[in-house]
Amino acid sequence: MPPQSFTYDQDGNAQIAGARISDLASAFGTPLYLMDEDELLRRIALYKEAAGAENVAYASKALLVGKLVKLIAEEGMMLDVVGQGELEFALRVGFPAERILLHGVYKSPQALALAAKEGVGRVVVDSLDELPAIAKAARTAGRAQDVLIRLQLGVDPHTHPSLSTSVPRSQFGISLDDGQALAAIRQALADEHLALRGLHSHIGSAITELPPFRQAAEALGAFALTVLAETGWWPEELDLGGGLGIEEGAPTPSEVAEQARLGLTPFAEDAHRPVPRLIFEPGRYLVGPCGVTVYRVVGRKRVGDGRTYLLVDGGMSDNPRPALYGAHPAMRAAHNSNAEAEVVDVAGLHCETGDVLARGVTLPRLETGDLLVALDTGAYNHSMASHYNRVPVAPIVFVRNGVARPATRRDSLADWLRFEVGI
Ligand SMILES: Cc1ncc(COP(=O)(O)O)c(C=O)c1O
Repeated sequence: MPPQSFTYDQDGNAQIAGARISDLASAFGTPLYLMDEDELLRRIALYKEAAGAENVAYASKALLVGKLVKLIAEEGMMLDVVGQGELEFALRVGFPAERILLHGVYKSPQALALAAKEGVGRVVVDSLDELPAIAKAARTAGRAQDVLIRLQLGVDPHTHPSLSTSVPRSQFGISLDDGQALAAIRQALADEHLALRGLHSHIGSAITELPPFRQAAEALGAFALTVLAETGWWPEELDLGGGLGIEEGAPTPSEVAEQARLGLTPFAEDAHRPVPRLIFEPGRYLVGPCGVTVYRVVGRKRVGDGRTYLLVDGGMSDNPRPALYGAHPAMRAAHNSNAEAEVVDVAGLHCETGDVLARGVTLPRLETGDLLVALDTGAYNHSMASHYNRVPVAPIVFVRNGVARPATRRDSLADWLRFEVGI
């Protein structure tokens, strides 16, 4: 699903948010990440409409740059961060601590101390063992920390195995089956430095079906009923995580929110308690389809089995997702020429056989020097970018109404040399 603003003008030049992609490539170089800000605002509005701004926590791991953090703050949303680095970054950019949710399968003592000192809104507990550490950090800061307990519900989201986070083999969340989850709740309730606000579930990412979200809500509701019977505690909040895919036909935020409410209502009625506040943590849905990556074709090559590769000036360093998950982005030429169409594979410039961005795509014949655009690269591309083969990390430029607003610059040899010791 490319941004709605991705179009070709009458001369066949691709545009995004009213700006010509070839002009942006000339101004900022390639590879280049572009973010359609109008599309971003449209997607944020859809989630806010479905759940209420104060109940949407943008999962910043999908893309974390200062401009976006500021926008999320202005939009009245929460921010989901993982670990010390994302937390420090968000605080430094000025995101209000009380609207931050701190995640992580492991949170360092430093991260917990910082969260407690700054008054981070929620810490999401990921294992029984970390409860004492969270409580200790809160005690030292002289406060009680609001926490959510992340559960491993055993719901299969029918996505790539590496994006499935609540199945029994996953390292995330606290298992319901062996009594650990109930033990965590009892422990949190008994500790004066922990304020247990609710439960959390994130079943996975890139989910394209609605039923797993409903199943997760029902599993949370059923567990909440058990906890009520055992302890008398009923959650004020239920955080259903993120996970919405961006393929054509994937569920919408309002469908997910509605299914969550429908799934939970019978349990709340049985409990004679209100349906808890529902929180969502979208990452990919908000930023994925807003982003495109612009590459320059640096070569063409026919190989032994007869296929043609287009070689581009980026690859797995700016987009590791094809190699990690087999998630190949759709490709478009930046100029829709009359050249005869051909079927090609697109490879990056890295020394890895797996550095193939696309297989078997049909494009007008492109020559060295032409521009190629990968679609839907706004999520988990820049945030997972690497310096492999010492390729600089590409800049991100936000575009709105034809106006480009750079969010980050390309890094350089001078930046890398600053990290060297003793040369
Ligand atoms: C706890 C949690 N919440 C939210 C997200 C965001 O997921 P997505 O980008 O699929 O919406 C993730 C992604 O890994 C996550 O681990």
